[in-house]
Amino acid sequence: MSALPRPQPRPGVLAIEAYVPGKSEAPGVARVFKLSSNETPLGPSPKAIAAYRGVADQLQDYPDGSASDLREAIGRAFGLDPARIVCGAGSDDLIALLARAYLGDGDEAIHTTHGFLMYPIATMGCGAKPVAAAEKNYTADVDAILGAVTPRTRIVFIANPNNPTGTYLPFDEVKRLHAGLPGNVVLVLDAAYAEYVRRNDYESGIELVATSDNVVMCRTFSKIHGLAALRLGWLYGPAPIVDAINRIRGPFNVNAPAIAAGIAAIEDSAHVAFSREHNTRWLAWLTEEIGKLGLIVTPSVANFVLIHFPSEKGRTAQDADAFLTARGLILRQVGAYRLPNALRMTIGTEEANRLVVAALAEFLGKAAS
Ligand SMILES: Cc1ncc(COP(=O)(O)O)c(C=O)c1O
Repeated sequence: MSALPRPQPRPGVLAIEAYVPGKSEAPGVARVFKLSSNETPLGPSPKAIAAYRGVADQLQDYPDGSASDLREAIGRAFGLDPARIVCGAGSDDLIALLARAYLGDGDEAIHTTHGFLMYPIATMGCGAKPVAAAEKNYTADVDAILGAVTPRTRIVFIANPNNPTGTYLPFDEVKRLHAGLPGNVVLVLDAAYAEYVRRNDYESGIELVATSDNVVMCRTFSKIHGLAALRLGWLYGPAPIVDAINRIRGPFNVNAPAIAAGIAAIEDSAHVAFSREHNTRWLAWLTEEIGKLGLIVTPSVANFVLIHFPSEKGRTAQDADAFLTARGLILRQVGAYRLPNALRMTIGTEEANRLVVAALAEFLGKAAS
């Protein structure tokens, strides 16, 4: 008897290893510090919370499907034409839409070895092939990326700064990458952590989008704006790419509370500055203090650090993770990012940061300084 036919997803879908979000619980521990998902420890702007609450009595209404007020607020904040902005349910939504619009069976999309996992996932979901370009010193390598380009390449995805490494490509390197790509390849610059970067040679992508036909910049409200729960992101791109994404996105892909809170958040530049200051201070402190314990920390410009552990039994990243979790300190294992000997830690509150350093000192059998 022949087997009954069953629905089959498109080729590639079942080869995807589903994205596993950062842990949020430590069983048996009363007080937990979640440092596993690069969320802000300072929360959103109080004005954004008030705007969110203000929508509570209008939940029966569909949102404005084109998110016009939000696009205008973003346009004002960055000096951009709102017509070239598309909002999405998180930048994940926009990454998936870009993949759907530009990738098909047999096409290739390039990401980097330790690049953000949603790029290969979105690529495979479209039946296309993800191609990993080697990194140098945990940093995207323009020559390796250009060397990976074939006639089938349609997208290059770069997180700048990258998650989970925290490293970045200076603007000159991004320009060199763009100059080396064929004009039919979309260069996606995912600047989810742009607001945290304090480097004169960094540019989030706005300038390159404005001066080319094949570059898109993605941004999110999940990180410095503290609105991860609402799922809100945006992209800025050339008119033809914006047009393509608008044709395939959900007609109401951004909800009304997210629109309201997003407008208030982007207008509260004081809250953004305050959050950035906190990050700058504690990023430097953590890098130094963890380094003093003898662990290597990859220099980061974002709101997290990648901490490397020895492979010696009892001192591995897995051992450290178990030790910290038992104390309510939840970091992120990054084996799925091909970094089995490292943990990623989000910059937390002063209390959380000090507790992690003290716990790591104890784990390594050293007195905290
Ligand atoms: C580089 C990068 N891009 C995009 C995202 C997704 O952000 P969103 O919450 O906007 O979907 C993340 C989240 O961790 C990220 O690290």
